[in-house]
Amino acid sequence: MCILPVLEILKTHLGAIGYDSMSMMKRVNYKDLSAIMLSLTQGETDEIALMATFACEVHHSDDRFDWTGFYRVTAPELLKIGPYQGGHGCLVIPFDRGVCGAAARTQETQLIKDVETFEGHIACASSTRSELVIPVVNGAGRLLGVLDIDSDQPAAFDQTDADNLTELLNTVFKDAA
Ligand code: SME
Repeated sequence: MCILPVLEILKTHLGAIGYDSMSMMKRVNYKDLSAIMLSLTQGETDEIALMATFACEVHHSDDRFDWTGFYRVTAPELLKIGPYQGGHGCLVIPFDRGVCGAAARTQETQLIKDVETFEGHIACASSTRSELVIPVVNGAGRLLGVLDIDSDQPAAFDQTDADNLTELLNTVFKDAA
C-alpha cells in the first residue's frame, strides 16, 4: 500500500488541530486564541487577573513560546515581574535595561530575532534565542507594562505575531486599571 495518501490525510488532520505538519509543533491560531481570551476576560478590569489569564492562554497556544509573561510598571522608569508562565524570570528591570526596558522606554514593540545582537539583553534563561516584547497600554493611554515572549528557537517571531498580539492586548486591557 502506498503511504503517501495516508501522510496527506495525516497532514490535513494535524493542520486542523493547530500543528505544523513539517515540524510537528503546535502553532497558534490567532482567531481561536482571540475568541477564547475575550470570553474568559469579558467584564474583568483587574490588571493582574487579566495578565494572569493572558499569559496562561498565550503560553499554551504555541510551542514556540518558552516563556510568556508580563513586566509591570510599578514606579517611575521601573518594571517588576508580573504574572508569567515558564521558568523563573528576573524580578526587577529598569527602563534602561534589556529588551523589556527598551519596549517600556520607547513604547515600541521589540522583535528581536537573535538576542545575541541586542546589546544589554538580560538573559534570565540561557536557552533564550529570540524575543518579542510589546508595550501594554490601557484605553486611557497609561503604560501598564510589557508583554514578554521568549523562545528557545532563533527568529521564532514575525510581524504577524506582533500585530495579532498587539491587537489582542489593546482589546483585553482597554478598561484595565
Ligand atoms: N528578556 C528580557 C528579560 C526578561 S526574561 O528573559 C524573562 C529582557 O532582556 O528584557
